[in-house]
Amino acid sequence: MVEEVLNRCTLQNRRSLFVSEPVVDRNINARGTVYNVQSIMPTNTYIKDHKNIFPITSEVSKKGELMVGGCNTIELAKQYGTPLYVIDKETFASKCNEYLTGFDSLYKNSLILYAGKAFANKAIFSIANELGLGLDVVSGGELYLALKTNFNKENIFFHGNNKQKDELELAIKNKIGRIVVDNYHELTLINELSQKYNQKTNILIRLTPGIECHTHEYIKTGHLDSKFGFDLDERDTLLSLIKNKLQNISLKGFHAHIGSQIFEINSFTDTISILLDEFKYAKSKFNFTFTELNIGGGIGISYTNEDDPFKIFDWIEKVAKTIKLKCKEFDLEEPKLICEPGRSLIANSGITLYSVGSSKQVPNGRKYIAVDGGMADNPRPITYQAKYHAVAANKINEKDEELVTLAGRYCESGDILIKDIKLPKLNPGDIIAVLGTGAYNYSMASNYNMVPRPACVLVSKGKSEIIIARETYEDLIQKHK
Ligand SMILES: Cc1ncc(COP(=O)(O)O)c(C=O)c1O
Repeated sequence: MVEEVLNRCTLQNRRSLFVSEPVVDRNINARGTVYNVQSIMPTNTYIKDHKNIFPITSEVSKKGELMVGGCNTIELAKQYGTPLYVIDKETFASKCNEYLTGFDSLYKNSLILYAGKAFANKAIFSIANELGLGLDVVSGGELYLALKTNFNKENIFFHGNNKQKDELELAIKNKIGRIVVDNYHELTLINELSQKYNQKTNILIRLTPGIECHTHEYIKTGHLDSKFGFDLDERDTLLSLIKNKLQNISLKGFHAHIGSQIFEINSFTDTISILLDEFKYAKSKFNFTFTELNIGGGIGISYTNEDDPFKIFDWIEKVAKTIKLKCKEFDLEEPKLICEPGRSLIANSGITLYSVGSSKQVPNGRKYIAVDGGMADNPRPITYQAKYHAVAANKINEKDEELVTLAGRYCESGDILIKDIKLPKLNPGDIIAVLGTGAYNYSMASNYNMVPRPACVLVSKGKSEIIIARETYEDLIQKHK
């Protein structure tokens, strides 16, 4: 079904998508969106077998080298050095379009926010903005970047469990779309600051609906032991405070984000039912008419072939159906639906290229192959035991004949990128591409061991451009006194 929608859109408009060119023509439809994503089918068998993990433009050159966005990854590694983050513009635009077209056909009154924390970058924010997406920011820094990108302010939502006064002031002064309020402390601050600027600030309230998600299962609990949001028991105190005391605040609806890398659609539809039940309660007891329902992000993706996420279109179908059904049942107007995907928009757009360096064969044990990056550019394996897939980018057509463990270069035994993966026989200088690194890699990267952070390039239609420059040793010591 998703393919069908994308193909239809492709036929509507076949304008190409060059690096540095605007992505969209704003006049085409109500959202200002043009669906100009190519319909791409991989021809290489290996890529076909792993097509949910690779960027959609992935191909293999005659020499057996990985191509992404029409660019040869071995040439990219030579030109820009390694480690190198590579982001495929076409994959990101295509993922955005899956959400946009799905909601356009099934629940038009909706806004898809790109969760900027997944990869906060000017070029990516610009593409999201041009496609008609909104943006979820979680700090003054992300908000500042969004403002510098000239992101449509009305579509910026500000999250966080301990937003600072200066961050809230930046948001309020700039009249951004919504502040998603997490606690009483913040509510009071927002009201005071709004008074200072003589305005009414539009907010959503973040609730913890008591749904706990694990990757392949979820449980419903009465209360969630979470640092985020208001417990449902707070509703009377909270709603009466907003109704009667906080005159500079306008409450538009509720928000919940129940977790990340979720594989169960039911956990989202249950969340919707709980939130709409709260809409009904607020209406009957406090006469609030809420118009916005924000169900957060968390849609799961494939990092390896073991992951089996649902299709985005199926998720949209069930989300839309549940809202319509519950609104009918609770006698509510259908609200504007807001969602905040991060990982599912950007993760599979990204790969990281590393050069192979040293190796070590433990007698009767593992073979370690060390690359020139690791836990500082991809902290997910050491932090969450996250699993990734990788290929030898210069040897795609060679047989995976050796079981190895890809080790990072950092001074931690736990700095292992991938444990036990079969790859072709590797030599120093070979290029490894770790797949699915577009989300929560650069944005979580550090300078641990005083190693400069890698560069990031955006590729499209055979062109590449630096969107984040490689750090230098000078950058590292610049702030030291
Ligand atoms: C409030 C909120 N919204 C959206 C997201 C994005 O989640 P994901 O990248 O899993 O879609 C997060 C992630 O932590 C979040 O905390």
